Amino acid sequence: MKPIGPLMIEHRLIEKMLAAFMRHIDDAEKSQKVDPNIVEVAVDFLRMYADRTHHGKEEEIFFRSLAKKDMTPELREIMQELIDEHVWGRKTTTALAAAKQKYLSGDEKKFSEIIFLARKLGNFYPRHIKKEDKHFFVPAEEYLSKDEQSIMLAEFWEFDRKMIHEKYNRVFQEYSLLYP
Ligand SMILES: [Fe+2]
Ligand SMILES: [Fe+2]
Repeated sequence: MKPIGPLMIEHRLIEKMLAAFMRHIDDAEKSQKVDPNIVEVAVDFLRMYADRTHHGKEEEIFFRSLAKKDMTPELREIMQELIDEHVWGRKTTTALAAAKQKYLSGDEKKFSEIIFLARKLGNFYPRHIKKEDKHFFVPAEEYLSKDEQSIMLAEFWEFDRKMIHEKYNRVFQEYSLLYP
């Protein structure tokens, strides 16, 4: 398998998760009530899977290697846009988590903010993924030799292997703060 293989497989899950989240948001809009747990699960998915695991491999392994290559200005520009979009996704997910937290504490005015931010993320991810799948991954991969691609794939698996430990160390840290 080539390194863009696992990244594209991850894209499919991110798309399906966001589509399911948007169906919950459609329901929430109809009933004018949102289930904070549904939002929390989506936030955890976006943070730990879409951002940390998926964007993590893109930025820390794939893009980092490509940054050393003599790519065309067009591809460099797209790569910078993708990095900037990751930053936007991270910020918007944090804002959604904060709005959900306030809603949970009784601030019902946060309802419309939750809907607004969720919709923004629901529109953003498919567009970001399409840009990578259709306009970046394939031409960018041509700058990597077969050997570089095999090493990169091994680095991807190692990156993924660490994620479950990182996730549950974080869960423990947050959990232990509840009852210090
Ligand atoms: Fe990305
Ligand atoms: Fe991606």
